[in-house]
Amino acid sequence: MESLGGAAAVAAMSSEAKADALEDAQNKALNQAVAAKKFPTMAEVEAGITEKPFRRGVGNLFIGRRGANVARLEPMPAKPTFIDFFRMRFGDVSNHVLQSANHAMQTGMEEEVIFACLLHDTVHSLIKVDHGWWGAQMYAPYVSEKVAFAIRYHQALRFYDDDAHGYKYPDLYRRTFGEDYKPEPYIEAAYKFTRNHKWYEYPRLVTVNDLYAFEPGVNPKLEQFTDIVGRQFKQPKEGLGFDNSPSAHMWRSMAMPDHPL
Ligand SMILES: [Fe+2]
Ligand SMILES: [Fe+2]
Repeated sequence: MESLGGAAAVAAMSSEAKADALEDAQNKALNQAVAAKKFPTMAEVEAGITEKPFRRGVGNLFIGRRGANVARLEPMPAKPTFIDFFRMRFGDVSNHVLQSANHAMQTGMEEEVIFACLLHDTVHSLIKVDHGWWGAQMYAPYVSEKVAFAIRYHQALRFYDDDAHGYKYPDLYRRTFGEDYKPEPYIEAAYKFTRNHKWYEYPRLVTVNDLYAFEPGVNPKLEQFTDIVGRQFKQPKEGLGFDNSPSAHMWRSMAMPDHPL
């Protein structure tokens, strides 16, 4: 409307002229959509760093959604379980990990793979940067070594193709890291280490089930995985955060992220 000179000018146009203008506008929108497929360079991604009041690696619990203020959180029970955290603190990432775990289940993968998929990005609530390592550390006292291994190294493997497993570097990373991004040496070293490890399959299958595009209408429920959680997660009787484990402080930080110090 504005590009045509406002409402009065549009009202004075013939219907053919309006139709032409509409087609022009539709073409423009289409061109913009095609242009959106063009990926930013690393320099363009880096230029955006100082345009936000928070850093890209911050945990979801610590920033408002899309620039809004943070919401008040439901208080956790005195002895919180993994399921409590999943329901009350993993909100922003829960659908993504449920879809990944559901995909692993539907394709007949073994239980530890399904479980690793369910956990793989949940540490995003606490912190996003280097989330493979943070996540593995947070879960290590409560899950099998294989599951912790899968969580730690999926972060590195997702940057490397694996034709045998049907894994391709996703466009999402071209958009997120920049089209000319090359993984840092520590990521490359972690990839090489994992590639030659007897448990390579576990983190690789997490990346295979990692769904980069959300499937609309697929909303698996946590109940689908309750039995697996029961078998795979060693729930401390004192509650997560209060069992003196090496990662108890991480759970407390998610339980009470409004504590200032
Ligand atoms: Fe991840
Ligand atoms: Fe993921």
